[in-house]
Parts: sequence; C-alpha cells; structure tokens
Amino acid sequence: MSHVDYDCQAEKWSRDTPRNLSDFIARPQLIQRVTELGGDVIDAGCGEGYVSRRVVSSVTSVTGFDKSEGMIEQAIKREKENPQGIDYFVSDMKNVFQIPDESFDVYMSSLALHYFNPEELEPVYGQAHRILRNDGSLVAIMISDIMVLSLKSYPNPAVELKNPDKLFNYNKSVGEFYPVILTCEDGTKMDVGVIHSRMKDHFGAFCKAGFKLKNSQDIVVPSTVPDFFKGLTGIRLYTYLELKK
Ligand SMILES: C[S@@+](CC[C@H](N)C(=O)[O-])C[C@H]1O[C@@H](n2cnc3c(N)ncnc32)[C@H](O)[C@@H]1O
Repeated sequence: MSHVDYDCQAEKWSRDTPRNLSDFIARPQLIQRVTELGGDVIDAGCGEGYVSRRVVSSVTSVTGFDKSEGMIEQAIKREKENPQGIDYFVSDMKNVFQIPDESFDVYMSSLALHYFNPEELEPVYGQAHRILRNDGSLVAIMISDIMVLSLKSYPNPAVELKNPDKLFNYNKSVGEFYPVILTCEDGTKMDVGVIHSRMKDHFGAFCKAGFKLKNSQDIVVPSTVPDFFKGLTGIRLYTYLELKK
C-alpha cells in the first residue's frame, strides 16, 4: 500500500513552471547536472514528467516511469499534447523488470528515494545499478534525513508536518512514515511525506549495489526563494546525491 495517493493528485502536480519549494531549489540542481551529463536518461519516479520535460532537449533520450498509474496517464497526456519524444511506463523502482541490463547512461530520480524502508533501498539501488551502463551515473534529490526534525523546530505553512506531535527519533524512527503537506504560492495543497531513513541506510544500500559515491550535498533553503518560502531560509530540507557505477 502506498503512503501517499499520487493517483488522485496527478492533475494537481501537472506544471511547467516552478510552484513547490523544491521546484525553486532542489530540482534545478538535478536538472543542471543531468543536462551536463547527457546521454540516455531514465527518470525513476518521474511523476507527471515535470523534470523529464525540462531535461529532454539537452540529452540523447528520456524514459520516465512511476508506480502511480494516474501520474503516468498525466505524463502521457502531456506528451501527446506537446510531443517531445519522451517514453513513459508504469513500474516500481524496486523492480524495473521491463528494462534490460545496461540500457541507460543516467538514472535520475527527483524526490522519490524517500519513499522506501531501509530494507527496500537495496533492491532500488540494485535495479538502478543493473540498468545503468558501465561508468553511468545515478543523480538524485531526496528529502533530507533531518527534514522531520527541521520542520518540528521551524514550523512553516509552505512545508508542514501533518502530525506535528508524532515523535521523531533519528535512529528509532527509521521506517516510520511522516505525512507532509506542501502549499504552493497560489494556495494549492499537495500531500507528500517521507519514510524516515538515515543517510547511512542509503550509503549501506548503494555500496552493496556496487555504486561509488561521487557527491552528496545538503540543500539548504537560500534567501533567494520567492517571499512565500522565505520563512524556511537557512533550513536543511533536501539532499543531493550523485553516484557512479
Ligand atoms: C514527490 S513526487 C515527484 C515526482 C517527480 N519526480 C517530480 O519531481 O516532479 C514522488 C513520485 O515518486 C513516485 N514513487 C513513489 N514510490 C515509488 C516506487 N516504489 N516506484 C516508482 N515510483 C514511486 C510517486 O508515485 C510520485 O509520483
């Protein structure tokens, strides 16, 4: 069972200009790096295709997949309305059986890697490693492993814990789900969330899969965000991760 119902939110997610906080500060970093790397790109947990559409003109090809049928329907609808040559299909990051070994140069994932229990991270990174060509890259942004703590300490209407009183312990809460409500500048609300895992859970899983760490960065909200998000300035909310096969 999914913790967040993306099927019923697919239309709300559909966008071509930045709306959520992460559209202003985390996705741009991912998009820039993937366009620098180029080649054949797979967008894992692509949602309705916002990031796929933004990188496709700068790389050889983009294929997106997501486990939400509603999100993929929306992505395909957008592709039909404005064909950019992006292929989409429904699948789970834990087992992308449709994709042969060594098919892609870049495994890109935008804010989907925080939807797994630590024990699920091994198959996720294992599948990513399998479908990447030798020397390929995994480039991802995900929710920071201290986001829940940050939001408890600095409550803000743009990114809110749905159950602010739910206990959080960095080690003991591993595997616990924390629902979050995002509010956009225009007042639209989206349901998201995070299954808590520590960076060491990710490191253990991707090392076991055979990846080497190239770069890992905390993404802190800068003061240049639109006014609506400025209350979160200085707070660490996301993590950038780049791995090499
Ligand atoms: C926050 S949305 C991000 C969508 C898109 N990547 C973006 O940046 O706009 C998270 C997405 O991850 C997808 N997702 C969650 N768990 C997944 C899994 N096990 N396999 C594939 N997709 C998954 C959800 O369905 C959802 O579309």
